[in-house]
Amino acid sequence: MAADRRAPFISFEGIDGAGKSTHLPEVVERLRGQGLQVTVTREPGGTPLAEAVRSWVLNEPMDALTEALLVFAARRDHVERVIRPALARGDAVVCDRFTDASFAYQGAGRGLPDAVLATLEAWVHPDLQPDLTLWFDLPAALAAERRAAARAADRFEREELAFFERVRAGYAVRAAAAPDRFVAIAAEGARDAVAAAVDAALRQRGW
Ligand code: TYD
Repeated sequence: MAADRRAPFISFEGIDGAGKSTHLPEVVERLRGQGLQVTVTREPGGTPLAEAVRSWVLNEPMDALTEALLVFAARRDHVERVIRPALARGDAVVCDRFTDASFAYQGAGRGLPDAVLATLEAWVHPDLQPDLTLWFDLPAALAAERRAAARAADRFEREELAFFERVRAGYAVRAAAAPDRFVAIAAEGARDAVAAAVDAALRQRGW
């Protein structure tokens, strides 16, 4: 890796049950194997304040705008206190979800206008975007089958199939708008095939 190249900020996205949590540790190991320090974090969350907000957002009934304001408030704290300092000291940052999730879940899923989310995005992190977004994409019905095997469902995971199809479509819109940043990973395949696609996306960018 070129000495003058900043360590990457990589986000993981996809509907619940897409398998991003399976592959995130593999990416962290890959980067560490290249000698990088890696800050591993998640949204909503990543600071004590943002983790408290996470538990409200995942468990308390609320309307879509409240949800968006809370996730962006959590994000502001996280960006200022964790993500920017980590990048400034030369760490790579691997983040389980970032602002694309707000466009997908609060926007496409809940129906908030994109203009509201774009305003919040411009306030909260006007000059920061991930260098790479790995979008784990699969049909909502398959993700639901995978989730059924997993733990107790939160407010989002209890949503109907149509909600997750909207969220998936929301990711597709964000991906089309930022083709250099997004890589769509076909996540319905076997674990090894998905891992190989993730490796290829990183290798192609020199990581
Ligand atoms: P998730 O990342 O799937 O974590 P876990 O694997 O522990 O369930 O859960 C976070 C949830 O928060 C997910 O359902 C999507 C939701 N979310 C939003 O609605 N908006 C956002 O901006 C973010 C970051 C997450």
